[in-house]
Amino acid sequence: MIRSVITGVGGYLPDEILTNADLARFVDTSDEWIQERTGIRQRHRAAPDQAVSDLAVEAARRALEAAGRTPADVDLIIVATTTPDLTFPAVAAIAQRKLGCPVGIAFDVQAVCSGFVYALSTADGFVARGRAKCALVIGAETMTRLMDWSDRGTCVLFGDGAGAVVVEPGAGRGDASDRGLLGWALRADGTKQDLLYVDGGVSTNGQIGHLRMQGNQVFKHAVINISEAVTAAALDAGIEVSDVDWFIPHQANQRILNGVASRLGLDESKVISTVAEHANTSAASIPLALAQGIADGRIRPGQLLLMEAMGGGLTWGACTVRL
Ligand code: ACO
Repeated sequence: MIRSVITGVGGYLPDEILTNADLARFVDTSDEWIQERTGIRQRHRAAPDQAVSDLAVEAARRALEAAGRTPADVDLIIVATTTPDLTFPAVAAIAQRKLGCPVGIAFDVQAVCSGFVYALSTADGFVARGRAKCALVIGAETMTRLMDWSDRGTCVLFGDGAGAVVVEPGAGRGDASDRGLLGWALRADGTKQDLLYVDGGVSTNGQIGHLRMQGNQVFKHAVINISEAVTAAALDAGIEVSDVDWFIPHQANQRILNGVASRLGLDESKVISTVAEHANTSAASIPLALAQGIADGRIRPGQLLLMEAMGGGLTWGACTVRL
């Protein structure tokens, strides 16, 4: 059978760093509160002239280089983002132009923080059916542009960045020893919209809007929902959660990461955490964490990875991948 194999990974973070102390200069918060409640120490912010497609393109170039591919090879681009350059065209089409890729398939996926997990599962539908030979799956966000900087309950949590993976077809035997995407579980519950949303939109008030969140409610749902999806994605792959080498969660809050790991019986030493340095970069956080784990030598080819995320919608999901 054909498997969707991740052959290259790249991450990009904009240069500007905002520390907790920087935020405490204009919003009523403190480094101590933010670190204790979230584990976050700093976040990156895109320059005013950087659009989300610029971040996506940087991450994509690094992923292509790692895969030994060039933009000329790419026939499918899926960008997971909730902060597009323009209402349309899709960031994926803009990235295609900026990268110089040939005519192919390009579209965006909007599942907020779960976007990367949704996009990778979507790419599988093209790659494993032989409809794409070299796919770029990118999570890219400029979340700082959605912040209400007077709302201390949200503005301290988010950052900007992008992560990308190259996905190519690979022959598999159909069992969990194969390289590639082995299983996934995706979920959405639209009745929980009020817990996490942006109060603007094209067809409502015509504004970009600001992110609004009932943080403690989202927190409660996160630990329960994510654990269920992770277990389902492991089952789909024919593995036990305890078999995984690395757990790569969406980086929203260190306390959520610890809560999910403990509920799943996973040792904290198996959890890749970047939340302290990156904060919550929404759809970019999983591929950025993957890129970091590979760059520092912890994550190696052949290892079994479990990725999970939850975000606005509410949406959530998980993917089991052998690198
Ligand atoms: N600095 C200082 N005090 C603060 C801050 C801050 N930045 N933010 C809130 N507080 C205060 C509140 O005003 C409140 O004060 P009060 O008791 O006097 O009323 C107190 O801290 C406690 O507030 P809570 O909201 O109950 O704090 P909690 O422990 O729940 O932590 C947090 C808040 C960090 C937001 C947490 O709930 C969380 O991480 N939630 C989940 C976030 C998440 O995972 N989002 C999903 C992904 S995002 C996406 O999809 C786009």
